[in-house]
This record gives sequence, structure tokens and C-alpha cells, in this order.
Amino acid sequence: MKNYKIAVVPGDGIGHEIVPAGLKVVEAVASNHNFKIDTEFYPWGAGYYKRHGEFMPEDGLATLQKFDAIYFGAVGLPEVDDTLPAKLYTFKVRKSFEQYVNYRPVRLLPGIESPLRYKQREDIDFVVIRENNEGEFVQNGEIVNPDTPEGYATDTSLFTRKGIENVANYAFQLAQKRRKKLTNVTKSNTLINSLLYWDTVIAEVAQNYSDVTYNKMYVDNAAASFVLKPETFDVILTTNMIGDILSDLGGAIMGSLGFGPSGNINPEKIYPSMFEPIHGSAPDIAGQNIANPIGAIWSAALMLEHLGEKDAAADIISGIEETTRKQTLTVDVGGKASTSDIADSIVDHLSTKV
Ligand code: NAI
Ligand code: MG
Repeated sequence: MKNYKIAVVPGDGIGHEIVPAGLKVVEAVASNHNFKIDTEFYPWGAGYYKRHGEFMPEDGLATLQKFDAIYFGAVGLPEVDDTLPAKLYTFKVRKSFEQYVNYRPVRLLPGIESPLRYKQREDIDFVVIRENNEGEFVQNGEIVNPDTPEGYATDTSLFTRKGIENVANYAFQLAQKRRKKLTNVTKSNTLINSLLYWDTVIAEVAQNYSDVTYNKMYVDNAAASFVLKPETFDVILTTNMIGDILSDLGGAIMGSLGFGPSGNINPEKIYPSMFEPIHGSAPDIAGQNIANPIGAIWSAALMLEHLGEKDAAADIISGIEETTRKQTLTVDVGGKASTSDIADSIVDHLSTKV
């Protein structure tokens, strides 16, 4: 029997509620599909930082590297400096493990009213591929003489040919498996060096995928088009910061940030990939068993798909769809179900499929 080793990092806030919900579903689907999941929990994040002065131990990355995948909640707490979570955990893992693709599907689930009510379910079905290792988030900059009249600050973006080519190839290959359309979301009319180079390299890569319709769109127009004509998108290829922002808008189009899944993917599988919902630790609702766990559960399905368990992943997705169709919903989308009710409903659906 196949046995996958999963490092579990619930993180902070609702991470402690949604991650167990996801694992419950994974355990259930594993027994139906004859594979095993070995989990090891790591209590890292902002809470850990308060006790130990670091987000994870010094050998944290070496520890994670031994696993087949990492299942992650979110990090950050109101009482901890919010410049630290990305720097000391999330970006560190994404960058060290060359998870240069951030895969974020946006799809309207059955039974969910989108804020775009006049759109049909088939109109809202696209994937945001966010470059995940460089761009605006390289944290290369400084704050100089902040308290003087001459004070200034910089954050310099960095885009490399290799980084752009890698994520572009992934996105075009994904488009080939979907509706064969790729939109590069850019802002090269104003970021006239970095994003002009981004556009140029992507246009070169596009030459190798003549079966994919390629177009380019500025991010301001793309934001409006997410709302006005989401049906025009299939695969969106964009930069680290633009992808971060647009995928939260994608979550909103799905009806809640709590629905959005993501995978931080190392396509070569040299390093473990990390799967997490798109949202943060939501401290405002933590500890109440009301968080929507579907983004975390869907992320677990992406993890199983990445590990090669495609049928198990598909079963989880259909369990999610059955649950929303039956209007078993959390408060963020107008329901009364708890976090654990949603996991139970999905598990019930899985067991009826055996
Ligand atoms: P957030 O995504 O945690 O929350 C934004 C709003 O959406 C809140 O009102 C929250 O209650 C709601 N929400 C989020 N997830 C939900 C769910 N599953 N079900 C129902 N409602 C949900 O973003 P915010 O408030 O900007 O950040 C909170 C903390 O999370 C900060 O410390 C931030 O740095 C961190 N963060 C961490 C991320 C990560 O670890 N990858 C990503 C984004 C934020
Ligand atoms: Mg984000």
C-alpha cells in the first residue's frame, strides 16, 4: 500500500480548525482508495514565535524536506509584528523548496450564490497561476533615514528570465489541459522595465504553445473583468503580488475567501510542495469552530492530485460539491454549519461512494 508522509503545519488562528477538518477528509478518502497518510505535526508560526523567538526551528526546512508534501494553514497573529510571518515562514518555504508556481483555482460551487448572481456556474471557472518565488516579494529594499525630511524606502522587484520561463511553461501546459487560453496579467505600461521584460519572455514562451490562445491584459482592466466577464478567463499567468491580490478577488467571486484553495508547487518534485487555503489566519473568527474549511479541504485535494492520487482528489471535490449543493454552509456564506460539520458532511459523502 502506498504511504505518503505529510508534514502538517496548522500555523495560527483558524489554521487549528480548518487543517484538522482537511485531514479528517484526507484520512477518509485514503482508506477508500487504498493508500496511507502518515502525518507529523509541527506547531510553528506566530504562536511559536512568541515562545521561541522564531517561526520555526533552525533545522525546520531540513525537517520539512523529508516529507512528500506539506499541508499548511496560515501564519500570523495580531500581537506579532506582521512583517514576520511571510519572511520567516511562508516565503522561506516557498523559495527554499523552489515552489515557483502558486496554483489557485477559482470556481463557483453548486448551491453558492456568487455576488455575480447573473453569471452561471460555468462562467466562473479559471485558475490563477501566480509566480511564487520572485517579483515584487523578493524583500530586497531598505528604509533609509525614516525620521528625517529626506526619509525614503524601497522594495525592488526582481524578475529573472529563468523564473519567468519556468512559471510560464507551467501555465501554458496547464492551459493545454484546460480550455487552451492563457491571459498574462501585467502592468508593463507603468512598470516599464520589470514587467516589460516579463511580457517579452512570456511572449517568447508562447511561441512554443501554438495551440494555446495567448493574450495580455493590464491588471486594472483584469480586476474589472473578474467581476464583469469572468467567463473570458481560463488560465491567468501573473506576478507574485498581482496574483496575491487577484486570487483574493477570485475568492470573493466564489462567495467567500474561505473557499479558495492553493498549491505552492515545485513542478520538478525535487522538493516537497505546500498546500494551503488562500486566506490568512483570520484571528477575528478563530476559536469558534465557524471558519469555512472548504479552501483547506480543497487544498488537500490539490495535494493528493499532486501526489498522483487523482481519483481520491476527485472524490473530495465531489464531496465538497455535494455539501454546498445541499446548502450545508458556514456562516460566511449564510449558513449555520460549523467547521467540523462541513468536514463530516464531506466524509459522509465519501463513504456513500465506496
Ligand atoms: P484573512 O484572510 O485572515 O482574513 C480576511 C477576512 O476574511 C477576515 O474577516 C476573516 O474572518 C475572513 N476569512 C478568512 N478566511 C476565512 C474562512 N476560512 N472562513 C470564513 N471567513 C474567513 O486576512 P487578514 O485579516 O488580512 O490577515 C490575518 C492574518 O493572516 C495576518 O497576520 C496576515 O499576515 C496573515 N496571513 C497569512 C497568510 C499565510 O500564512 N499564507 C496569507 C494571508 C494573511
Ligand atoms: Mg494572500
